[in-house]
Amino acid sequence: MSGVRKTIAVLPGDGIGPEVTRAAVELLEDSAAAFGHHFDFHELPFGGAAIDRCGAPLPSETLSACRSADAILLGAIGGPQWDSLPLANRPESGLLALRKELGLYINLRPIRMRPALQGISPLRADRISGCDFEIVRELAGDIYFGEHELRGENGSARARDVASYTSAEVERVARYAFERAETREHHVTSVDKANVLSTSVLWRSTVTSVAREFPRVTLDHLYVDNAAMQLLLRPKQFDVILTSNMFGDILSDEAAALTGSIGLIPSLSRGAKGRPALYEPIHGSAPSLAGKDVACPLGAIFSASLMLRESFGLDLEAQWLESAVDHVLDYGYRTMDIAESGSRILRCSEFTSQIRGEMHDSLLHTERYGWGV
Ligand code: IPM
Ligand code: MG
Repeated sequence: MSGVRKTIAVLPGDGIGPEVTRAAVELLEDSAAAFGHHFDFHELPFGGAAIDRCGAPLPSETLSACRSADAILLGAIGGPQWDSLPLANRPESGLLALRKELGLYINLRPIRMRPALQGISPLRADRISGCDFEIVRELAGDIYFGEHELRGENGSARARDVASYTSAEVERVARYAFERAETREHHVTSVDKANVLSTSVLWRSTVTSVAREFPRVTLDHLYVDNAAMQLLLRPKQFDVILTSNMFGDILSDEAAALTGSIGLIPSLSRGAKGRPALYEPIHGSAPSLAGKDVACPLGAIFSASLMLRESFGLDLEAQWLESAVDHVLDYGYRTMDIAESGSRILRCSEFTSQIRGEMHDSLLHTERYGWGV
């Protein structure tokens, strides 16, 4: 077996970040051991933890290790102890700076209803069962990266956030969404607010012209308010949703909740081909759960399988890991936040051990009978 050798920068961050990242690293180590790969993990300070240790959310040591890694695994950032800092010094600004510095302009959030978890979706089974789509969120522009200003006090205060896009910024992310759709159901839904915003008028016309390069893909446009409603009413109409930074941030939390919990959804952030991509669960740092070993590690674990597939081209390893998760869910094991009546509730570390055990058992089975049996 000729294995691959990869360096992975690990940024555990804050709150439940370190617990869920540990789970993902363990599973990556297992897949390296089983398939003859070698993964070097470099753990680095980031977010609030880095503010406390080094005085800044994105220390230069962390940034340069990320630049030279093959991929980056991030846990979560933020917490109440840093909420009173000015916006520019908070953990969140470290994440935005990391995305900007690494040129990560594409964010992919796969939304998939796992059959075993149907019971915890807030939607009726006929609306959500089999739901499987992807959100492609633009990640390096829009109102998150424009000028932010807060002036004056009390009755005379005034604030301003500038949203801007260039057609080139829209084109590059749109192209990625169409390419994804070509590997799926050939359908892109572009979401904007072109009845009000200039950035959305540009968005819509640019996406429409990129669509001409992809004649086999159907393109629809939805206003964001309608898209939020359609997600609740008919989520199965979607294949690839393409949208701007802020709308993607909001709609992806809504979409995640439809599959049962925001704790389940991974993400990939990337720029040009060949540059290191970043993988992170889309959930936050959940300070109230931190350090209690009760958080659901699945967002981080699916981020690891997304890394195996998208950055390293290790499809079989990713599939092995994900099917072990599905089996463990089928047996009724859950962490507290994704439990339903009759579930066998485990701690984060115990749940991870169950998945590792399942991976081990299925490997033994495979050695005897081959894959796919
Ligand atoms: C996300 C998060 C971040 C974002 C925050 C923490 C800056 O909500 O990844 O969705 O808004 O992008
Ligand atoms: Mg968000």
